[in-house]
This record gives sequence, C-alpha cells and structure tokens, in this order.
Amino acid sequence: MCSIIGFVSSKQASPSIVQGLRRMEYRGYDSAGIAVLEGKKIHVRKGVGKVAEVNNMLGMDELPGYVAVGHTRWATHGGVTEKNAHPHLSSSGKLAIVHNGIVDNYRVLKESLLKEGFSFRSETDSEVIANLLEKAFAETRSIEESMMRVVTQIDGKYAFVAIFDDGTLAAARFHEPLIIGIGENGYYVASDVLGFAGVTDKVVYVDNGEFAAIDSEGISIFDFQGNPVPHGVTRVAEEFGVIGKGKYVHFTLKEIFEQPQTIAMAAKLTESELKEVSRLLTEASRVYVLGCGTSYHAALLGCRLLSEYTQVNATPVLASEAKFFPTKYDSKTVLIALSQSGETADVLEAVEIGLEKGAKVVSLVNVATSTLARISTLSIGLRCGPEIGVAATKSFTSQLATFYAIASHLSGGRVPSDLGGVSKGISELLVKQTHLREVARRMKGASDIYVLGTGPHYCVALEGALKIKELAYVHAEALPGGELKHGPLALLDPSVYVIVVNPTDATYVDMLASAHEAKSRGAKIIGISDKPSDVYDEWVGLPKLDPSLLPLVEVVPFQALAYYLAVERNADPDYPRNLAKSVTVK
Ligand code: M6R
Repeated sequence: MCSIIGFVSSKQASPSIVQGLRRMEYRGYDSAGIAVLEGKKIHVRKGVGKVAEVNNMLGMDELPGYVAVGHTRWATHGGVTEKNAHPHLSSSGKLAIVHNGIVDNYRVLKESLLKEGFSFRSETDSEVIANLLEKAFAETRSIEESMMRVVTQIDGKYAFVAIFDDGTLAAARFHEPLIIGIGENGYYVASDVLGFAGVTDKVVYVDNGEFAAIDSEGISIFDFQGNPVPHGVTRVAEEFGVIGKGKYVHFTLKEIFEQPQTIAMAAKLTESELKEVSRLLTEASRVYVLGCGTSYHAALLGCRLLSEYTQVNATPVLASEAKFFPTKYDSKTVLIALSQSGETADVLEAVEIGLEKGAKVVSLVNVATSTLARISTLSIGLRCGPEIGVAATKSFTSQLATFYAIASHLSGGRVPSDLGGVSKGISELLVKQTHLREVARRMKGASDIYVLGTGPHYCVALEGALKIKELAYVHAEALPGGELKHGPLALLDPSVYVIVVNPTDATYVDMLASAHEAKSRGAKIIGISDKPSDVYDEWVGLPKLDPSLLPLVEVVPFQALAYYLAVERNADPDYPRNLAKSVTVK
C-alpha cells in the first residue's frame, strides 16, 4: 500500500530516491517524503500530494547526502497530513524510518514509550518503530541487536527501512515486499524492483522474517533470531527497465493500447509450463481459482473455460472471502491464484491457508519477483510488462489469454489457442477510440450506469463496471441480463445508461430482450455487439470471432470508455482517488 526505498550511495542519494518513488507511486500516492543523512544530521522533507507535487514544493531531490530513505503513502492509520507523512524521526532525531504495512499492537507500544518519555509527532502506527529502535539502540549500541528486539516486539505485517546517523540502513521484512538492488553507485532497498529499475537488474531477495544491514561496505542479512543468512545475487527481467509512458498521455491509455501484443505474449506458455500445469490440474481432485478485484473477474472466466471445455471442474473463490468460504483443502487440491502484483494480502493469506493444508498452488502473476510467484508450486508469468496504471487493464486480458492457452492444451484444441485474430480485433477496436471518446463525452453527466451481460459476458460486465467505478467515479453496476426484471428495473429512468454486452452467440436473443425492457423504461442503451440494432442509442462494434474468444475483446471498449469518462470528468486515470495498485494490507 505504501512504497519504501532506501539508498546507500557513493553520490548524492536524493535524486535516485525521488526517481524511485515516482516509479513506485502506484503503491500509494496520498503523500511523499524523504530523509537524508548529511554528516550526523538527518534532514526530512515531506508533504501531502504526489511525488512530483511534493518535490516541486519542497525540493526533496536537492537534499545533499549519500544515504537516504523515501516513502509514498496510502493512509491506513492517521489522516492524510504532512505530519503523518513518512519518514518519521525518532524522539531524538537520530534515526528515521519509512514503513509499509500495519503495526497491529502500536497502541500498547506507544503508551509504554510515552511513559518512558519518548515523544510522538504523528497519529501513525509507524512512528513506534522509530522510537522502539532508538530505545533498543541506546541500550545495546548494536544495530543488529536493536533490529532483533524491534521485530520481536511488533505484531502485524510490515516492511520498514531505518536510516541511522552512522550511515547504516537497516531494513526488515515480514509479509510485505522488500528487495535489495545492487547498483554501480551503491545499494538500494525497495518495495519493488521498479524502485531501481533502469539502474540495475542485480537483486538480492530479503525473505520473510529476515532483516538486512546495509552500509557502504556491503549487505548483511540475518533471520529474526539474529543468525546470518547467506544471500545470492539474482538477475531480474530487463523489461522492468521499460517503464515510460511513450507517446501516451497516461500509463492507463498506453497499457490499454499494448494489449494486442501483451495477449500474444501471455498465450505463449512454454512446453514445460503446459506440461506441469496439466499434470497438476488433471491429478487434482479439487481446483479453486482465486483472486481479488479484476483478477477475480479473470478467475470467474477462467473457471468457466476450464469447466466448459476440459475435464477440470474449477470453483471460483473471492480471495478476500476465502477464509470464510467452505473450501476443502488437502494434498489433492490445486489453487490457481491470480494476481497482477503477486503481493495482494488477501490473495497471499488465502494461498498460505491452502499451502498449510498441503494444497499445491499454481499462480498466474505478472510480477515475477513477487511473494506469490516465489511461494507457488508453479508460477506462470503474465509477461505483460509493468502495469503502472492503478486500474488493471492489460493484466486482465493476459490472465485470460493464459487461461485460454491452458484450456486449449487440456481440451486437445477445443478452445482456440491462436489469439492472432483477437489481437487484430483489439487493434481494430482501438482505432475507433474517437467514437468511444464521443460516447464518453455524451455520458459524462450520468450518475448511474448498469452493465448487462449473460453467461461469460456477465464476467466481462463485472469488469466493465469496475473500470467505470474506479476510473470515472460513476456508480456502475453489473447485472446478468435476465435479472433486470427481478427488481433492478425499478431503478431505470431516462437519466440512466444501460450498457449491454451482446455478441451474436447463444446469449444474443435473451440479451436483446433485456435491452428492449430497459429501453421501454426510458434508459439510454449502449450496445457492445458485432451486430447493430435499433434498440441501441449508441452502437460499439465488435469484430467477428470464434464465440469462445469474445470476452478477450469485449472488455476493451469498457477500458477505453472508462478511461475517456475519467478524462472528461477531470479525474486522473492513472491514480484514482483513495486507491492504490497493490493492496498489501488486510
Ligand atoms: O495485484 P492483484 O491482481 O492481486 O490486485 C487485485 C485487485 O486489487 C486489483 O485487480 C484491483 O481491483 C484493481 N484496481 C482493478 O482495476
């Protein structure tokens, strides 16, 4: 939810910290800040707003000094204010920390620190870490000892980096991501490889339950009991270096337009991936497919594909509900976990419950260095490159494309595996973006949008409605077409828009009837279909494709429409209010 970064450098550290924060900003963008050590003094500059805004205001990247930490925040404890922004100094100002996650027992710790005379400046849970470290260091004079004491005192899931006034960075990881980058000019430690992308692809993984001490001499890693842990250097994919907006105004638009290529990439599973996933699925007695948000919508479609075309019967599970879902996990169970980030707390929790009971985990995940990828029995990469826009777009179609490849393999080709026609169809749709922009302009005053789909198209409707909600801040609700007459029809009047996903497959006639029902109550109808009809006030054409492949293209007009609605309504499509890209807290 927040991003943290530290840099021990042989040159001025602050420009690299600000650059890293900008790249990781998708993780949270309420406020930003930096702490830099100059001599023995730690200088902090922080404020409310996005990294660029705070930097323009305060000149974070001008601070001199070779060792620094930085933070972008997505508020959990304490409002969005300058004093709650990170970094947080300890009482004496001799160390500062940046933190991602939640310290569950912070109230008790804070009370006891207050009694001991420590002072607090913020309402955050994070500040206790700074004062606990200060107290431990005063007592032990050892950074390693202090880190061990602190990690055993705090409960919750967290990663934090502390900057000490001797120039050491100390970083701990417990169920939140943390990765060290080895650059030519020094050592980075960050929530995501994007924090140092383009500078180095040489990384050291800090595992769960480990902490690191980093100074100009090198890196030492320990487990929480203080035992040294040997570490190797791994190279991460070079694609993480390609993260600009290119010719596009927003990352979201760029990512929508990348889909003809990213779908093709995702569908190319290696022979060994196909063999292994087929073995795991055919040997399983139960298969659950889980994810949150957009990834859950892909899970719904993935289950339909497996159940319809293969011998595998799969049950979709919303990962945030998994704890309360009557799942039956054992060693014959396979969980297919979907996640763009691989760091979503709800997904990791669901997977960990499964792993404890002996289940196998197949993950479809975009961030190859993520926790989910690393704890899975088999992890299949989505290979769609970094997705920076907070709204998931290309990762959704890549998740679907991966399912098509798996279902095609398992069904002996009953599902087409060649997605060339889909890529072409999406390119054709995107050429018509000016039409979608006009439709968005006409719709921009709408307060309610209903999205109807039937069968697999209902899953697309769910995803379409989510895109409209999060990008354009308009109430949008997905409904199976046939449900309209069972109640929601009462909500329709001429101020309402109804979007129908209506390809000419087996669902066509029923959906057309629902469109007529809505129209006769005065609603304006937008038809997404390969066939025009008088019932549509606006018609968005779909390419002709094998019916089983339609969901892959149907979602694209929704993504573009939601994007243009956001632009028309002056919302920032890349950074929707109140959201963060990876939800790493419960
Ligand atoms: O990284 P994940 O795929 O696990 O993220 C899951 C959801 O948080 C995510 O899809 C969210 O719903 C997006 N903002 C949707 O656009």
